[in-house]
Amino acid sequence: MAHRITLIAGDGIGPEVAEAAVRVLEATGVAIEWDRVELSADRIRATGESLPADVVASIERTKVGLKGPVTTPVGGGFQSVNVALRKKLDLYANVRPVKSMPGLHTRFDDVALDMVIFRENTEDLYSGLEHEVVPDVITSIKVITRTASTRIARAAFRYASRHLRKRVTAIHKANIMKLADGLFLRCCREIAADYPHLIYNELIVDNASMQLVTRPEQFDILVLPNLYGDILSDLAAGLVGGLGVAAGANLGDQHAVFESVHGSAPDIAGQGKANPTALLRSSVMMLDHLKETAAARRLDEAIARVYAKGDGLTPDVGGTATTGQFTEAVIRELKG
Ligand code: NAI
Ligand code: MG
Repeated sequence: MAHRITLIAGDGIGPEVAEAAVRVLEATGVAIEWDRVELSADRIRATGESLPADVVASIERTKVGLKGPVTTPVGGGFQSVNVALRKKLDLYANVRPVKSMPGLHTRFDDVALDMVIFRENTEDLYSGLEHEVVPDVITSIKVITRTASTRIARAAFRYASRHLRKRVTAIHKANIMKLADGLFLRCCREIAADYPHLIYNELIVDNASMQLVTRPEQFDILVLPNLYGDILSDLAAGLVGGLGVAAGANLGDQHAVFESVHGSAPDIAGQGKANPTALLRSSVMMLDHLKETAAARRLDEAIARVYAKGDGLTPDVGGTATTGQFTEAVIRELKG
């Protein structure tokens, strides 16, 4: 039976990379029936609906989504629909693998990196609770709860244990935010106690940022509150070739939405320059989630072979190919 999956193409480069993913997934031979729904800055502006009901209803029905980025206006305008969707569907774990790819040359070529970021996905400074106390004085509320911190810690440790990882590092600023980040750390420590075979350590976020650049090979599984997770996952993407290759999944107990780390990339949208690797690697995670394990491995290897051969790559990773040409190259490897 075909898998029913919600497809949100998004906006900016979203439709270009989503179309690439649809074509590549078709070439894997896995039967997928797409439920296409529109979520884009244009639609939100036109309707005033921050999170259209049909989008939520579709994912509630299919339980699985593949999603392109959606633009969020800066410094005003509507609230992030990406954040709204994660909260609405309780997609509490944002899982972002950071893995080097042979053939993709970076400044960090001398180390093979393989870490996984577990970013809390529902609270922290993304609460959207901002308030003008008096003119020119704003408070922005950081919410940290035991429930959300424990869930993300448990997700990280469970993953680490199942995948035979060695270390989980919690990242925080509990020296300054003693109560909020202090609670996050307490929750991580409590879960760590259930996994004595895993090494658990803690790093303050500024030091962690430096160490990610100077000694990235020490990291294995990282667990972070929402904001630090957002920032450090772009930083970590930079270690392995940039946002064009960084995959992700938003996981809850009931639903899963697979999407890249990157945004709508307005600077290159509509020019055929977008690298669909990030969404294709997110699709590999989706195939694993659907228990289409053989297809997941075949797709992962097909992408790796295109990079190993080094032609058919998009400009962000040093090539001259278009989104379409890269997509063709992956499909050739899948079928070849
Ligand atoms: P961005 O991730 O869209 O772009 C950052 C840089 O990376 C740009 O130079 C872009 O061209 C490049 N880039 C990103 N993805 C690429 C790809 N697949 N191939 C080649 N190059 C790629 O971040 P930016 O510019 O800060 O944000 C743009 C918009 O995206 C904002 O409105 C932001 O709110 C939104 N956004 C949406 C997300 C989502 O839907 N989950 C996540 C992050 C940002
Ligand atoms: Mg981000």
